Formats: sequence, C-alpha cells, structure tokens
Amino acid sequence: MMRVGMLTSGGDCQSLNATMRGVAKALYRMYDDVEIIGFEDGYKGLIYADYRVMQQSEFSGILTEGGTILGTSRQPFKLMRTPDENGLDKVEAMKHTYKKLKLECLVVLGGNGSQKTANLLREEGLNIIHLPKTIDNDLYGTDVTFGFQSAINVATNAIDCIHTTAASHGRVFIVEVMGHKVGWLTLYAGIAGGADIILLPEIPYDLDIVVEALKSRTKRGKRFSILAVAEGAISKEDAALTKKELKEKKKNGVIYPSVAYEIGAQITERTGQEVRVTVPGHMQRGGEPCPYDRVLSTRLGAEAAYLIKNKEYGNMVAVINDEIVKVPLEEVAGKLKTVDPESSIIKEAKMIGISFGDE
Ligand code: F6P
Repeated sequence: MMRVGMLTSGGDCQSLNATMRGVAKALYRMYDDVEIIGFEDGYKGLIYADYRVMQQSEFSGILTEGGTILGTSRQPFKLMRTPDENGLDKVEAMKHTYKKLKLECLVVLGGNGSQKTANLLREEGLNIIHLPKTIDNDLYGTDVTFGFQSAINVATNAIDCIHTTAASHGRVFIVEVMGHKVGWLTLYAGIAGGADIILLPEIPYDLDIVVEALKSRTKRGKRFSILAVAEGAISKEDAALTKKELKEKKKNGVIYPSVAYEIGAQITERTGQEVRVTVPGHMQRGGEPCPYDRVLSTRLGAEAAYLIKNKEYGNMVAVINDEIVKVPLEEVAGKLKTVDPESSIIKEAKMIGISFGDE
C-alpha cells in the first residue's frame, strides 16, 4: 500500500479540484493499492493531523468545480518556525504527521508562501511535489500557474461590464484588479477588456502622465475612460520612498480603502471628472475554471503522478513552452516572477495607445 498526502494551501483559485483530480486519476491508474490522504485546510491539517482517507469517488465530477474539496487556509511561511499559541513546533508537528501516516510523499497545491513551506519540508527530508497554483501568476520557473487564465476571464468580464455603463455616463472608471505584488492579471485583463490606462506595480506611475492621458482622450472626443489598476500599483513618488518613509506618509495622509480609490480621488481633484471605482475582489478567484485551466490542471496533475512513480521528489511541476517539466524547488522557492516593463507585451500595448502612466 502506497500512501500519498495531498493539500491545498493559501488563497484558493479556480482549478484546484481539477488539479487534484488529475493527480488522483493518474495515480489510481498507475497503482492498484494507492491511498490518498487529504489534509483539511492546507498545512493546518498537516500540523494538527486533521485528515481523511479520500475515496476515489471524491475525485469524480470535480473538474469544473471552483474552490477546493479539501479546504484551504493561510499559514504564513514567516510564522512556520514560530510555535503556535500552545507552544507546538509546527515544522516538527508536520514531520510527525507525515511519518506517522507513513506517507510516500506530499503533494502541495499552492502559491508563493506555500511553495516556500514546501521547500522547507523538503529540506527537512520529506518527499515533496509542488503544483503551481495562483491567480497572480507570480511563481518563478513556470510560464503560467493554474487559476490565472480563469481569473483573467472574470476580471475581463468585470471590465467589459464597466465599459457599457462608462460609455452611457461619460465617466472615468477604475477597475481594481487582484494580483498581490505583481501585475500579470491586471495586464492581461486590462488588454483583454480594452482598458485605456493600465497601472502595474512593476511600472510605477506618474500621476501627471495619467492625468494627461485622460485629458488627451477628452480632447479627442472620448466620452469615457477606463483604468485597470493593480491592487499593488504604486506611484513613482511612493516607489522612491523607503518602507519606513512610506508608512509614515500613509499615517499622516488621507486613508483610502485601496490604491484605486486614492487614484480616483486624485483624478477628480486634478480634472474635475466624475470617477467611479469598482473592485471585483475575490470574485476573481471564484467560479468554475476556464477550459485552458482544466487542460493545464489535468496535465500538471498527471505529470505529478508520473514524478511520484519515478520518485522524482523536491520538484515543482511547471509549464515551459507548453511542455510540462519538473523544476527543482530549491531553484525557485522564494523567487517572484514579475512583469518585465521592457517585455514585448508592454511594448505592443503601448503601440496601440494604452498608457502605463510612465511616459
Ligand atoms: O494570492 C491570491 C490573492 O487573491 C491575491 O491576488 C490577493 O492579494 C490575495 O490573494 C488576497 O488574499 P485574501 O484572500 O487572504 O484576502
């Protein structure tokens, strides 16, 4: 009997279930006697030995289901070495659960932080396979993460809906897009949704340039404008400050719910234009996975099972040039994949007149 542990960790996204299904279906075909142990709510389940022996039937009918049948939670990497409120050493507890259950390996579906913990467990001697999950698409070493394409669909749909009302009223609309510290989701949804201005964390914006771009549209007879703003967007001015200085500045200034509201207020002040802000928020992680993600998840899952069969542990299963490959966790854990301001997609977007608020 071979026992494989599995957990979904961090913020959820579409296609987690499709990925687990891919792993499970391939494993059940490879082995007659495999048992999959599902840990509840991510690493929490591994720490506190909260798990269930999964039935083969649980993996049927979940290809199109959003969320995760195992549940998830955020267990910040930086606190992994800090004992819990009862003094429990979390890393030792995870190792203990793994050993007690006599697991062959642990399959972790997670984003950046979860990947770092997966790498930590690898360093502690556990057999780990990591599958790259996140709507942010910020995992280094893979061209794309599952969840990203589905989230683009939701964010694009939000911008599409805003288009019609913006056109009717002749207003400036800002759609704030998720993505944590990177701008992938905003960039793709912004282009797909026909945004006029796209603001990304990787390209600090100059408010004067944003205002000029808006005024120029008005001069050209455009009744409305749409800005796709990443939740992590930052002005040139703020980007030049140290963390401490920025904290101080925020403390002494007006407090806005988020960057999109701050930019909105500044635009109204500078142009007199009516601005509305829309934040699709967690909707972007919800609903069913798009066909692209279903295919990607199926492929990643199947290849994860193949790595297990060959005992090729300590790897992330990644996509590079449409090939599914293995990438050593030690080479990628802790690294962020950001949008390159010099990349051709940015150049092409600028060629059709999209402003990034930088020139
Ligand atoms: O990492 C996925 C993500 O949705 C980010 O885009 C966002 O910044 C964050 O999670 C939100 O986290 P939470 O669900 O904990 O509010």
